[in-house]
Amino acid sequence: MKTPEQLRSHQWYGTDGLRSFSHRARTRQLGYLPEEHLGKPVIAILNTWSDINPCHMHLRERAEAVKRGVWQAGGFPLEFPVATLSETFQKPTPMLYRNLLAMETEELLRSYPVDGAVLMGGCDKTTPALLMGAASVDLPAVFVPAGPMLRGHWRGETLGSGTDMWKYWDDRRAGLIGDRELGELECGLARSPGTCMTMGTASTMTAAAEALGLTIPGASSIPAVDSGHHRMAAAAGRRVVDLVWQDQRLSRFLTRGAFENAVTTVIALGGSTNAVIHLIAMAGRSGVELTLDDFDAIARSTPVLANVRPGGAYLMEDFHYAGGLPGLLGRLRDRLDLDRPTVTHATLREQLDGALVHDDDVIRPPDKALAPEGGIAVLRGNLAPDGAVIKHIAAEPHLLQHTGPAVVFDDYRQMQKTIDDPSLAVTADSVLVLRGAGPLGGPGMPEYGMLPIPKYLLEQGVRDMVRISDARMSGTSYGACVLHVAPESYVGGPLALVRTGDLVTLDVEKRTLRLDVDDAELAERRAAWQAPAPRYGRGYGSLYQEQITQADIGCDFAFLSRPGEVPDPYAG
Ligand code: FES
Ligand code: MG
Repeated sequence: MKTPEQLRSHQWYGTDGLRSFSHRARTRQLGYLPEEHLGKPVIAILNTWSDINPCHMHLRERAEAVKRGVWQAGGFPLEFPVATLSETFQKPTPMLYRNLLAMETEELLRSYPVDGAVLMGGCDKTTPALLMGAASVDLPAVFVPAGPMLRGHWRGETLGSGTDMWKYWDDRRAGLIGDRELGELECGLARSPGTCMTMGTASTMTAAAEALGLTIPGASSIPAVDSGHHRMAAAAGRRVVDLVWQDQRLSRFLTRGAFENAVTTVIALGGSTNAVIHLIAMAGRSGVELTLDDFDAIARSTPVLANVRPGGAYLMEDFHYAGGLPGLLGRLRDRLDLDRPTVTHATLREQLDGALVHDDDVIRPPDKALAPEGGIAVLRGNLAPDGAVIKHIAAEPHLLQHTGPAVVFDDYRQMQKTIDDPSLAVTADSVLVLRGAGPLGGPGMPEYGMLPIPKYLLEQGVRDMVRISDARMSGTSYGACVLHVAPESYVGGPLALVRTGDLVTLDVEKRTLRLDVDDAELAERRAAWQAPAPRYGRGYGSLYQEQITQADIGCDFAFLSRPGEVPDPYAG
């Protein structure tokens, strides 16, 4: 147990010097008496609320529940607004800014009188960003997931945000629905605060945070508007104060075993491919080695149990009522490291004691799994020497072993302009290739990976094709999309050398992605290849361009992911 004098914030408030005097005077200015804060753990509440982020619109109010919990446990809460990364609105993609929020998180926690933190996020990149930054500071911290939105609804049908947006947009392009239907869908797709309610990146990453042991048990699936979400937020506030006194910092939880548990969880959920990049980056910040091969190995032995869209039939609200993550983890007991600690007092084993599943169709028992092995596979071959990823559970099975002629697009805009042009003569057997969409080329590796099917093929009823890119794909997308091809084309990866008409072979069973062009010809094309000019002349983009790493190692900034000491600031 720490004493009040051992608190980090003591250097700011409790010493006998001019600076402490000044800090105390300024806390009076904030409206607090000495007895309200002196000698108490200062808890920073990092809040990604913003008017522009519908997934987090309730977090402004929910921070009050966290504060309530902190006060109840004898701590002193201070809310810090931090950058919001709105998956919907931020361009070119919030992935460009994940590392910026991670830096902001790290530097705020380090530079202010903070003893512990509650991290409030959920919309896709916010979860890894907050956890990467906090792991680098290594303070006690609890994560509060924003929680999924309610089920979508339209004309008696249940809608999934994202997934059904793509689907109905295809229907619209195929001329099956009109303006009136589209207007109604706009009102029904996302009808409450909260993150996407399919098993997209948000629900995948908040579940990963829970599996890492960083949340109140069951937190990740509580619908954002459920009163249970208020109770969970208050419990997180109470809990972090204890963690501070017990000096239980993030490094205690973020071990290799915890990351393996998180990967197992992501696979059993049929989760988003984005989790591959984020978990590798988070592990890197925690000093844990986690590789693409770990994902492939764990996927091969982990059944998919969550029957949630886009891979399954239900939505996050159903998953929560069926028992949530504790219910699912309870069914994976023999595949998890149960002895690792969590931010509650209990180990994972104790936490899962008595975990129940209330609906076997939503959270399947292993003998009725959605798929006997996981939905994410890692591919290699002359087209992706450092690896590529496919979520084959979300693809039409006949495409998982496929050879077809490439139709190459050099960038996304060109693809958008020409994809519906019948003179491209794309057939259902063609392999659509998009390059220039990787970490540098995108920039920010936008979620372009689910390339649209040409309109004339949609009209013929084609709904899936093999698509290959160095981009990412939204967790709510689907299709035979090979993603994260590394190295990316922008830095001269083999994707840069593909030409329209080249035969490409995808074989998910064999885990290969091959360009059927001989080495001599490839060498010739490589010699003729010219590196594109740098995209940014100044600003954050130029820092990004200098420091970003490739997808297979997590797209962190090199200077943030390398080991090394950072001194604590002198506050006296
Ligand atoms: Fe925020 Fe999907 S847009 S979670
Ligand atoms: Mg998403």
